[in-house]
Amino acid sequence: MPKPNFVLEAITLLNENRTGSPYRSADQTILIDNFVETTRKSLAKFLNIKKSENLAFTFNATHGLNIIIKSVLKYGGHVVLSCFEHNAVLRPIHYMMHNGYDVNFSIINPEANGVFSSDAITSAIRPYTKLIVWNHASNVTGQISPIDLIVRIAKDKKNFNTPRLFSNGRHVEYRRM
Ligand SMILES: Cc1ncc(COP(=O)(O)O)c(C=O)c1O
Repeated sequence: MPKPNFVLEAITLLNENRTGSPYRSADQTILIDNFVETTRKSLAKFLNIKKSENLAFTFNATHGLNIIIKSVLKYGGHVVLSCFEHNAVLRPIHYMMHNGYDVNFSIINPEANGVFSSDAITSAIRPYTKLIVWNHASNVTGQISPIDLIVRIAKDKKNFNTPRLFSNGRHVEYRRM
């Protein structure tokens, strides 16, 4: 994806002036630490995340999804997926299923009118469901998923000690979780 100019400028600024890995004990890296932490705080504000230290940077979405899926399902469990999940979601789940983890999944399809029924989501959640992965805003169809409904159902089911909602953009109220 081509990047907007302000991204290119920020990357150039860093590469020209602030080389080194963050959080090492050289003077140069203190500048980078500040840059990383300022960015983390700005993003937390943008995404409405209360504690910026809960926001982790990953190399890309695939990396982030692998961390989430493989840690939540480390001891096995069931996952509920929408029918339009990306390979970056499906692959780690399939990997676990074929490599000795007690993992399985259910896929929810919409009704003929394109709407997801709350009954279908509710009945897909089993006692050992650990995770719901649901593409919030589709970059293929533009469809916005009924995240409020899914969060409500997940809370009612009480399966999830710490309900987690993974998405991006201003639509998400993390605090609601
Ligand atoms: C919905 C969705 N999830 C995950 C990914 C994977 O993203 P990345 O290339 O950042 O790993 C993509 C990439 O197009 C995507 O469209």
